[in-house]
Amino acid sequence: MNSDLLTVENLRSVFDTPEGTVRAVDDVSFKISARRTLGLVGESGCGKTVTALSILRLLQPPARIERGRILFHSRKLGGNFSPGKSAENSPSQAVELLSIPEREMRKVRGAEIAMVFQEPSTALDPVFTVGEQIAETVRAHSKVRRRDAWSQAIEAMEAVSIPDAPRRAREYPHQLSGGLRQRVMIAMALVCHPQLLIADEPTTALDVTVQAQILELLQSMRERFALSMLFISHDLGVIAAVADEVAVMYAGKIVEQSPVSEIFSNPRHPYTQGLLRSLPTIRPGTLPTRKLDAIPGTVPNLLALPPGCKFEPRCPVRLEECKGLDPPLYPVGEGHWARCVLCR
Ligand SMILES: Nc1ncnc2c1ncn2[C@@H]1O[C@H](COP(=O)(O)OP(=O)(O)OP(=O)(O)O)[C@@H](O)[C@H]1O
Ligand code: SF4
Ligand SMILES: [Mg+2]
Repeated sequence: MNSDLLTVENLRSVFDTPEGTVRAVDDVSFKISARRTLGLVGESGCGKTVTALSILRLLQPPARIERGRILFHSRKLGGNFSPGKSAENSPSQAVELLSIPEREMRKVRGAEIAMVFQEPSTALDPVFTVGEQIAETVRAHSKVRRRDAWSQAIEAMEAVSIPDAPRRAREYPHQLSGGLRQRVMIAMALVCHPQLLIADEPTTALDVTVQAQILELLQSMRERFALSMLFISHDLGVIAAVADEVAVMYAGKIVEQSPVSEIFSNPRHPYTQGLLRSLPTIRPGTLPTRKLDAIPGTVPNLLALPPGCKFEPRCPVRLEECKGLDPPLYPVGEGHWARCVLCR
């Protein structure tokens, strides 16, 4: 079986604004294999969240997906799954997520591809207990009795090491600390045993000690549930600690993509090199010691992008031709591409 779980091809997602159409995600392609983690990194506004929401088809107007294909090896869709048969043991079949009906997409969302957001308090409903919310996720995807859904919610809370889970399950989101709320979000994301977890800056809102704990938790959940992950961060240090492959985004495009060790030992795009220069001690597999500093210059206005290389106004090694030439991704090594004329 093909081990590519998710394949995104030439995705373009736009915002229709009074000033014109903004390409927030422009011609983005990547693959995530079974049990692998792809780190998506880049400065604020480069299109990371829009990419994630596009995969789940959760973009709201004025945003829309303009083109692209998203192939996902689903266990539940494609005729291989029937009620009473375990989805986990069913063979998977690639479905194109952008062309299936919304009713089918709802079976994928949460049950096969789940997402953890940056700010857990906005994703949790303040008027229900956290246990009720996790149990509701279970019931949305399988016909189980209320009592069984509740038991599964407690089990999921225990799996993410929430102490005294049966008591905590009866509490409301505001009664929990930020770190516990994020654990609840992870429990809710994993309770239906998804194959792919999208984690969008899951630790940014937390203090440093709790950040490290949540990263460790995600790593252990990844092993335990054989998860694939799309891990989004503006912090290359966090990506170094969790990812197998990295995609660096700039102004809606992937500008460099490679195995994680390669991006630290042999960065080829001047933007990636700038991101790395602003980090002190980073090694793959270790936790970061400091947050990423901004590189010189400002993030471009997507409505007024330069016609050539999007990084040209900030690039320390730009050539005259870069003003007029929008480079493609050039292969620079095994599984390694960079969008720069210097890599021709
Ligand atoms: N409501 C909107 N109207 C127009 N453009 C928008 C709107 N929301 C977002 N955008 C555009 O989409 C781009 C990408 O936004 P996105 O949220 O994906 O960035 P991000 O990489 O997730 O940033 P952050 O690190 O801050 O979360 C933004 O730069 C912005 O230009
Ligand atoms: S194409 Fe030119 S401007 Fe763009 S990153 Fe490469 S050298 Fe810099
Ligand atoms: Mg974001």
